[in-house]
Amino acid sequence: MKIAFELSGEHATLPRAEVIACLESLNIDFREIAFMDQLLVVDVQELPPIAKRLAMTHHILDVIFICPANIKSILRLASTADLGLKGTFCIRAKCKGTDLSSTALEREVGALIHKKGYRVDLDNPDVMFRLVLTEDKCVFGRLMESVDRGRYEVRRPQQRPFFYPGVLLPRFARALVNISSLHDGILLDPFCGTGGILIEAASIGAQCIGMDIQQKMVLGANLNLRYYDIDGMLIVGDACDIPLRSKSVDAVVTDPPYGRSALIQARSLEYLYRDSLREIYRVLKKNKKAVIVSQMPLDKLAEEAGLAVRGKHQQRVHRSLTRQIIVLQK
Ligand SMILES: C[S@@+](CC[C@H](N)C(=O)[O-])C[C@H]1O[C@@H](n2cnc3c(N)ncnc32)[C@H](O)[C@@H]1O
Repeated sequence: MKIAFELSGEHATLPRAEVIACLESLNIDFREIAFMDQLLVVDVQELPPIAKRLAMTHHILDVIFICPANIKSILRLASTADLGLKGTFCIRAKCKGTDLSSTALEREVGALIHKKGYRVDLDNPDVMFRLVLTEDKCVFGRLMESVDRGRYEVRRPQQRPFFYPGVLLPRFARALVNISSLHDGILLDPFCGTGGILIEAASIGAQCIGMDIQQKMVLGANLNLRYYDIDGMLIVGDACDIPLRSKSVDAVVTDPPYGRSALIQARSLEYLYRDSLREIYRVLKKNKKAVIVSQMPLDKLAEEAGLAVRGKHQQRVHRSLTRQIIVLQK
C-alpha cells in the first residue's frame, strides 16, 4: 500500500528524516516513492500506528491516487478510482503552492462523490478524505491517523517545575529522539540540562540516563522527570568521562553547550566536543546512533572519534545562531 505523510513545514529536512528513522526503527520494510514539498510517499506492506511517536507530521494517508495538480485530472480520477467507501464521508483539501482554492476543490470533488450515492457528513464522517496539492502533484487519500501536536504544547518547558533558558522545545526534542532510530532500550543524554530530551525519550518507552556537570541542572531535571512520573537515572558528571560501561547504550541524543560562555570544566568548546564524542563512541552499542545538536560542524571530530556521519540538518534559530544537527552511527 502507498502511504503519504503530510509533513509539517517547520523544518525543510527533519520531518522527512523523522518518518524514515521511525519506520526503520520499527523494522518496517518500505520504499520511498516521492518526497515533494511537505509530502512524503512510501510503499509499505502494512503500517502499525505510528502517529503517537511522530512530532513533525500532521496526517498519515492511505493513498488512493496521485495525479497532476490540475482540476481536470483530479475530477477524472476521483470519479473512476475505487474509493473503498462505506458510510459517510467528508473531504478536506490543502492547496499550498497552487492557485486552486481549497474550498472550491472540496466542493467539486465532494459533489462528484456524492453523485455516486455516498452521503456527506462534515461533522462526524466515517471516512475523511484529504486532497493535498503541491506545485505539480495532487495526492488523494483516506485519512488513517493524525498526529496530536497539541500534546507537545502541554509539555511546554515553561509548564515544568524546573525551567532554564536554552531548553529544546518538546516537538524538536521528540524529532531528535526519533531520528536516533531508538525503538526501546537505553537513551543517554550526557548534557541533559533540564531533561527535555529525556522526557521525550521516556514518552516513547525508552529507559533514560541523563548527565550534567552542574548539580543544579541534575536536581532540576530530576524534578521535571518526577513531574511526568518518569523513572530515569541522573548523574552529576562530566560528559568527557561518562561513568557507564562501554557498549551499554542504544542511542545518544544530546544538545551540548553552544557558546564559550556556557563552558564548564573544559579548555575550549573543541576539546569538550572532541572528548565527549570519544566517550559517546565508547558507550554506544555497535551500529547504534547519536544525534547531536551543535553550533559548529562536528563531522571531522566525529569521524576522528570513530563515528560515521549518516545525516546532517541545519536549523536557524536567530541571526547569530544556526543549529547543526548531525546524525552519527557507530
Ligand atoms: C544547551 S544545555 C542543554 C539543554 C537541554 N537540552 C535541555 O533541554 O534543557 C547544555 C548543558 O550542558 C551542561 N554541561 C556543560 N559542560 C558539561 C560537561 N562537561 N559535561 C556534562 N554537562 C555539561 C550544562 O550545564 C548545560 O546544562
